[in-house]
Amino acid sequence: MSQRSYKIAVIPGDGTGPEVVAEGLKVLGAVAPRFGFKYETHAFDFGGERYKRTGETLPESAVDDLRQFDAIYLGAIGHPEVKPGILEKGILLALRFALDQYINLRPVKLYPNVDTPLKDKGPEDVDFVVVRENTEGLYCGAGGFLRKGTPHEVATQELIATRMGVERCLRYAFDYTRKRNRKKTLTLCGKTNVLTYAFDLWERAFHEVGERDYPDIKRDYAHVDATCMWMVKNPDWFDVIVTDNMFGDIITDLGAMIQGGMGVAAGGNINPQGVSMFEPIGGSAPKYTGMGVINPLAAIAALQMLLETVGEAEAAQAVERGIIYACSRMKSMAAGRMGFSTSGVGDLVTSAAAG
Ligand code: IPM
Ligand code: MN
Repeated sequence: MSQRSYKIAVIPGDGTGPEVVAEGLKVLGAVAPRFGFKYETHAFDFGGERYKRTGETLPESAVDDLRQFDAIYLGAIGHPEVKPGILEKGILLALRFALDQYINLRPVKLYPNVDTPLKDKGPEDVDFVVVRENTEGLYCGAGGFLRKGTPHEVATQELIATRMGVERCLRYAFDYTRKRNRKKTLTLCGKTNVLTYAFDLWERAFHEVGERDYPDIKRDYAHVDATCMWMVKNPDWFDVIVTDNMFGDIITDLGAMIQGGMGVAAGGNINPQGVSMFEPIGGSAPKYTGMGVINPLAAIAALQMLLETVGEAEAAQAVERGIIYACSRMKSMAAGRMGFSTSGVGDLVTSAAAG
């Protein structure tokens, strides 16, 4: 029998991205021999520095190159000297779209010993997953200007929801809820009272698909504003939330805060039939670059998701045990206040995950 082996593309990116990715790769180096798989990494220099040097966000060959890998591990994209939007659209969103990573999977899980700003809430209350549609909605770039720069300027930005795009996202969410096997409840987060076209489509597809193919999964609905309220007041009500691109973006920042901050929140940009990309969701945090104070747990949690997705569930569980151990030793999840350096936190995870 041939040994399991994975080709992983690594995009360390900007700011603190390279530092946190290094810790994730350290953990990977420890779990691979323990769980009997091999891997190769190949680094890509996409990011702000490359853009400043070459004027190019992604080279032409990037997407075809990345398609050759089993998974992509991304640090962070965002540079203080590059105008907002260029790198986000030119690299992060471009890859999500070109690789058709139509799911953005974001677990919201509070680990023991991690502070949450929610009063009287603990790990037993905060443990749900957001399935965010990742290729449509307001992110398509549809719209434009009319009479730009004049007093009569018009700007439109259109929300696109296709039956195909919505349905494949819903199916993923239903399947995920079934596999997760907790409360077996999928909550659609929308805005059917105002966005009466797009979320009408979402709602009809939700009930049609659910009734026909997922009778074992309970269907629930919440408006996006109410979802924010419940995430703070009764986060324990949620099992899996499925929502559109923009709402998913917003509620997962709230989710990150209630699980202990950007230092711990990870996400996966998933194409179930293709190449997926995993990242800490916090961004490049340029002011902490090179200081060894940034929290690598989010990037390590992204690695955990990567392992889970390529089929190394046991290794992923070991990484999670390592994260839980690190949380038990750290003073805080905030940069500079962890009680350990960036690599010190990586060492904690590694020591526990390596067994
Ligand atoms: C995220 C980020 C991105 C998004 C930005 C950087 C384009 O906020 O991954 O949540 O809006 O999707
Ligand atoms: Mn975001």
